[in-house]
Amino acid sequence: MAEQYDVVIIGAGAAGMMAAIEAGKRGRRVLVIDHARAPGEKIRISGGGRCNFTNIHAGPKSFLSANPHFCKSALARYTPQDFITLVERHGIAWHEKTLGQLFCDDSAKDIIRMLLSEMKEARAVLRLGVQVQSVDKTPSGFRVATADGMIDGSALVIASGGKSIPKMGATGFAYRIAEQFSLPLVETRPALVPLTLDPAQLESLSALAGVAVDAEARSGKTVFEEAVLITHRGLSGPAVLQISSYWREGGDIRLGLLPRVDIAALLKAARRDNGRQALQTALGEHLPKRLAQFFAETAGLINRSLADLSDKVIDSFCAGIKDWTITPAGSEGYRTAEVTLGGVDTKALDSRTMQAREVPGLYFVGECVDVTGWLGGYNFQWAWASGFSAGQVA
Ligand code: FDA
Repeated sequence: MAEQYDVVIIGAGAAGMMAAIEAGKRGRRVLVIDHARAPGEKIRISGGGRCNFTNIHAGPKSFLSANPHFCKSALARYTPQDFITLVERHGIAWHEKTLGQLFCDDSAKDIIRMLLSEMKEARAVLRLGVQVQSVDKTPSGFRVATADGMIDGSALVIASGGKSIPKMGATGFAYRIAEQFSLPLVETRPALVPLTLDPAQLESLSALAGVAVDAEARSGKTVFEEAVLITHRGLSGPAVLQISSYWREGGDIRLGLLPRVDIAALLKAARRDNGRQALQTALGEHLPKRLAQFFAETAGLINRSLADLSDKVIDSFCAGIKDWTITPAGSEGYRTAEVTLGGVDTKALDSRTMQAREVPGLYFVGECVDVTGWLGGYNFQWAWASGFSAGQVA
């Protein structure tokens, strides 16, 4: 005998819990199953333990997808303000860190506790440590076979996330279910991920490991202005994570250091005031000293005094700082990627409900769908919004 539920949700992450709350509030009998031992593990580790739970600027332009219009309906249906209202109703203190990014004052665990308490109120049942063996269509819905028995649901919501951080149990399960039901997939790849350099490049930048600097990071026409961090493996920091979602193998990324600073004008002024100063010393007043040294050395101008340098030399030197072109060798992959780009092709889903067009009762929500946000709370907003949309109808 199979257990009977109206809605079975696979995945107790951000999207699955939100779908459970909304379906439960409508009086649906909801079961959420997860193979992990705790719900919302990615919420727990997110935002350095404080969960960047939304972004007040979240709108369609901040999401990548083969169909950039797909996310509009869900994002309009459930907005950052809706989530803020929920957070405030639970007395969770929050603050804006930067660029519209909202974090818990205290702990990401507050968000998990909030979702669990909402689920309880909505009478949604949560079962952890459940291994799903198979999913099949039945005349009245779906049958999920688990190691502990059969579960039947009239609706099935796949909320099992993407492939990022396999160590935390990410499996690519959702893509297998999509394939089983003949839904198309958009090729997946790691996103919001540090980029790696080849050994020769690493060697040339070895003295810079640990240096952070504000920059415009550019790939093609896309540009983000935030911090870049040079590491022992390559490039990281928010600007690089952002641009990694747009970068493709073989392509360049271009770093414009000291954005909105006219460094050539500053060096020329320094030459006027103190011509005996070495180039790297003058530059080191505006850039981290190791970086200033690196640029002076690379340009063959180390220890040259400013007075020796013509306007033309200063201009061309500064052009190199404003357009530092690097060809990454690759990325750190799913091991450290914050999200998975691509996934279940939105062509196969209804944008209002997240339901598979050709498989009534089957829904995909959250990261497994081909909608990927920028860094900064956008991905959770997508999880809440898509989970909410499915929960309204499933
Ligand atoms: P999520 O991955 O959260 O949940 C999927 C659930 O399904 C998991 O509980 C998993 O155990 C379960 N599952 C998987 N396979 C299964 C199977 N076969 N059977 C049963 N259960 C299965 N975003 C943001 O907006 N702000 C932030 O601060 C951060 N910070 C951040 C830090 C780090 C280190 C990472 C890795 C990611 C972030 N993110 C983020 C991204 C964010 O965590 C991500 O977009 C959401 O968690 C996606 O929510 P989902 O519910 O779709 O998947």
